[in-house]
Amino acid sequence: MKTVFEPFRIKTVEPIRLTTAAQRRKLIQEAGFNPFRLRAENVQIDLLTDSGTGAMSTEQWAGIMRGDESYAGARSFFRFEEAVKHIFGHQHVIPTHQGRAAEKLLCQTCLKTDSVIPGNTHFDTTRANIEFTGALALDLPIPEARQVANEHPFKGNIDLVRLEDAIQKYGKERIPFVLLTVTNNSGGGQPVSMANVRGVRELCQRHDIPLLLDAARFAENCWFVREREQGYAGKSPEEIAQELFSYSDGAMMSMKKDAFGNMGGVLTLNDDELARQVRNLLILTEGFPTYGGLSGRDLDALAIGLREILDPDYLNYRIRSTAYVGWHLDQAGVPVFKPFGGHAIYLDGRAFCDHLPNEQYPAWSLSAALYVHVGVRACEIGNLMFGHPNAEQEEQRWPVMDLVRLAIPRRVYTQSHMDYVIEGITELYQKRHEIKGLKVVERPEVLPHFTASFAEV
Ligand SMILES: Cc1ncc(COP(=O)(O)O)c(C=O)c1O
Repeated sequence: MKTVFEPFRIKTVEPIRLTTAAQRRKLIQEAGFNPFRLRAENVQIDLLTDSGTGAMSTEQWAGIMRGDESYAGARSFFRFEEAVKHIFGHQHVIPTHQGRAAEKLLCQTCLKTDSVIPGNTHFDTTRANIEFTGALALDLPIPEARQVANEHPFKGNIDLVRLEDAIQKYGKERIPFVLLTVTNNSGGGQPVSMANVRGVRELCQRHDIPLLLDAARFAENCWFVREREQGYAGKSPEEIAQELFSYSDGAMMSMKKDAFGNMGGVLTLNDDELARQVRNLLILTEGFPTYGGLSGRDLDALAIGLREILDPDYLNYRIRSTAYVGWHLDQAGVPVFKPFGGHAIYLDGRAFCDHLPNEQYPAWSLSAALYVHVGVRACEIGNLMFGHPNAEQEEQRWPVMDLVRLAIPRRVYTQSHMDYVIEGITELYQKRHEIKGLKVVERPEVLPHFTASFAEV
């Protein structure tokens, strides 16, 4: 059978409120043309993010009831610790309320103003947390990563030559760790190959620099390794994940993605002294080390989610159903980033809105138009998120790619929801030259996309 169906049944439903294009036009105007500022009830299909938006399973809900809310040493923590250690294998398991809390704890503990953190492509909150300490966040993706149509199977890879050069240039004393993001969210949801991870490991070992993973979507990365990398077809996702983590000295994870959590994160480390310092800061800002800002019930749900995410039938469905959206859009001639990502399909904003200059934010304008046209909410990853419009040099003003991310929540939407999205985008593409450009009215300094506002040009 060619059809891959959703490997779950629906037990609880959440009605979707339908709106008209005229209503949505008014609503997006009131929201300053920023989809983040819309009320969720006014969105028909919400592809803003796959973070914390997944549906929990019956087992996870059962785990919620088992949650132990003891302040210290709760049973829930030990179940969580065991589930994390089984896959990650690191000595210290430190729960946090979400991924960026793990980033903050690590960055505040071990970065100095002259530190440099090389990575494949840092996610926006990671970059912000690194830069907040005064340190430099250095993106070193392979050149193929920034070519929209290039079908390289592992566009998430770091460029090992540039990494070696960076280590020579800055010196290992200034590099507290190298960070690999699996899969690479800001780079199109693209996987990192195991060979690349081994290469980074070898390089880091030679220079005595720890290697850390940003493991928000580790399971999706492992499925791509199984499908695309020689020698992994017969291995289980769990075995692949264990091998992946075995090359690292620690990891940060937003558990709102590949742990099926609505909230949660974790920081794992092998270094005893670093873990001690992190826990001290954790107590100050997040909570006691056995709950780290989470309820006992959250810890139980996450422990179960970590096991469920590695189910091969789920991962096969997940990657195939995301590709389904990409494939149909591609067939309709819509410019999409290739190969298709694990958690999202990315539209090429500049090619879609080729009548709009960078100053009119093509991808952002497309995301606003998409909402008005069919009530689908998506997120720009491009000119606003990474641009420096006042920079002197043109190449610093605008990022290499200006994308719209259609992030697909886990176990939430069915194929007919996706058919609606495909039809809506295809229709919009046919009349793309009617999409109006936007100008910035307000742009905050840090993480501008969350709260910026726009007006029509
Ligand atoms: C790769 C990556 N790292 C870190 C984060 C931050 O996690 P959180 O939103 O849980 O703070 C995200 C969130 O989207 C992410 O995609």
